[in-house]
Amino acid sequence: MPDTADKTFYLETFGCQMNVHDSEKVVGTLMQQGYRQVQTVEEAGLVLYNTCSIRDKAEQKVFNRLSDYKKYKAQGKIFGVLGCVAQQEGKRIFERAPYVSLVAGSASYRNLPAMLVQIEAGNRATGLDDRETEDCFETEYTARTNPHRGYITIIEGCDKFCAYCVVPFTRGKERSRTSASVLAEARQLSNLGYTEIQLLGQNVNSYRDPDGKRSFAELLTAVGEIHGIQRVRFTTSHPRDFGRDIVDAIESSPVLCDHVHLPIQSGSDRVLDAMQRLYTRDEYLERISWIQSAKRDISITTDLIVGFPGETEREFEETLSLLDLIGYDSAFTFKYSPRPNTPALRLDDAIPDEEKSRRLAVLNEKQRSIQTHRNKRHLGQSTKVMVEGKNPSRGQWIGRTSQIKVLNFTAPDGAELKTGSYVDVRVTTSFPNSLVGEMVETGG
Ligand code: 5AD
Ligand code: SF4
Repeated sequence: MPDTADKTFYLETFGCQMNVHDSEKVVGTLMQQGYRQVQTVEEAGLVLYNTCSIRDKAEQKVFNRLSDYKKYKAQGKIFGVLGCVAQQEGKRIFERAPYVSLVAGSASYRNLPAMLVQIEAGNRATGLDDRETEDCFETEYTARTNPHRGYITIIEGCDKFCAYCVVPFTRGKERSRTSASVLAEARQLSNLGYTEIQLLGQNVNSYRDPDGKRSFAELLTAVGEIHGIQRVRFTTSHPRDFGRDIVDAIESSPVLCDHVHLPIQSGSDRVLDAMQRLYTRDEYLERISWIQSAKRDISITTDLIVGFPGETEREFEETLSLLDLIGYDSAFTFKYSPRPNTPALRLDDAIPDEEKSRRLAVLNEKQRSIQTHRNKRHLGQSTKVMVEGKNPSRGQWIGRTSQIKVLNFTAPDGAELKTGSYVDVRVTTSFPNSLVGEMVETGG
């Protein structure tokens, strides 16, 4: 039986950066409530699982994991399921895994302290009814895991309802924080020594300042003006809401990173319409032309889905031709998987899995050759990287460029570098997924 005076928790996180950052806030909140984080289930009194349900049989994986944990119940441990699977499956989790005490979706984390009191008293607690909330989950005690790059959520939820996507059902409606509170958090991070800020949102550029003071582009600029901040990133952007003013902001401020992640999902107008993506191929290409005509070399990355219900071979080929046309620096590619509650469930998911796999392989092969070609343009260039760590087996330092590329490099005379510092590196070799180089001089 864990010692109740020493309240300990173990938290495992799955999924996107939003989930990773939610976990940082959950950890901060738990610590504020007197809990101590431990690194193994064995040591913990409270075991939490922050789940993702974006693709595949995520629910099943969660239940499998929970049944692994069943053996610990006899030791008096308390179990909680957080995040998207919690929101999606709700109280069914108690039926399938009766030893679970807490089931809470991301929109309810503000109420975690009250829920903790309930479960500590031996009761069950749920946080499932908050998706229509106007509030965001802002915490004073966010326990950030990276000491140099600080995530800040500026907008939660999603109102877009793309036909395949479970997010609007699990994360609830779109709600933005005031730009004043975002800037206050960014200043606080800068005071703590953070030099990189990453603004987060399911659709970060759909941001609407509740005070009406700043547009998203103005907020980016304002974060970039904070003393000590050297890099500003933002993800994920939705093409429909991607304005030219974002490119103008990047152009006018070198602190805003040379990178835009702009998911296209498909290159076919018919499929885009069936996906309810709210833009056409041409409208998307227009946004790409704004980015590509900037004076700085801005890298563009995307997300793609193959095998959406009804996608013909021809339509798939339109996606392939789009890749050639745009020349992405990286792409996250997925096979369509039907998700609970989503409108696409009404469509016949008739494309066999082998065919989806084939399309995925063709797509990945094409994108790989595009990246091989595109990364060559960096050869001989000197570029600033943030030092992220060291690869001891190779004796190389790991850096990240403004374009978000991994650049592994050697330092002169085996110099020891500080993680989080910025140095200039000359690129000597390129691979499809990374670059290699030599440090030329230390920067700021
Ligand atoms: N099937 C496959 N991919 C999906 N994504 C979201 N929902 C699904 C789904 N049901 C992908 C999209 C999105 C990324 C985060 O995950 O490409 O941009
Ligand atoms: Fe999902 Fe579409 Fe919202 Fe992105 S914009 S979270 S893909 S519904």
